[in-house]
Amino acid sequence: MTLDPVKLEQLVSAAKEARGRAYAPYSHYRVGAALLTKRGGVFAGCNVENASYGACLCAERNAVGTMIAAGDSEPVACVVVTKGPRAGSPCGICRQVLSEMARDMLIVLIGEAEDGTEEGRRETTLAALLPDAFEGSQL
Ligand code: THU
Repeated sequence: MTLDPVKLEQLVSAAKEARGRAYAPYSHYRVGAALLTKRGGVFAGCNVENASYGACLCAERNAVGTMIAAGDSEPVACVVVTKGPRAGSPCGICRQVLSEMARDMLIVLIGEAEDGTEEGRRETTLAALLPDAFEGSQL
């Protein structure tokens, strides 16, 4: 799965910017995510925590909400930026939510140092992260 390098860097910038706006006063683990759609739309999200920990929202799911609210669909790539050097991978719930939007997509995981420099980058796919995804009860 390859992407136009210019578009990819635009997506990376959107995810990094969103990470800078993360609301994470409890875990101090800031996450930024950005989705690129088939139509070329870029939609970002950050994690938003809550004093009631179970109400915390992940960056990836917020990016999905932003995309849907804007009327777009069909994401082809998702960039997730966390703290480096070992970039964090989307949680199980986010994998499931992403899989609702597309069977597969490129996933780019980036780890940033405190000063914002990139410490690690790896690529995978949603199909690799969530094989045999649940697709509904078929009722
Ligand atoms: N988090 C995300 O934003 N995305 C994930 O895929 C995993 C976890 C957030 C939730 C919480 O605000 C913080 O990271 C620590 O779990």
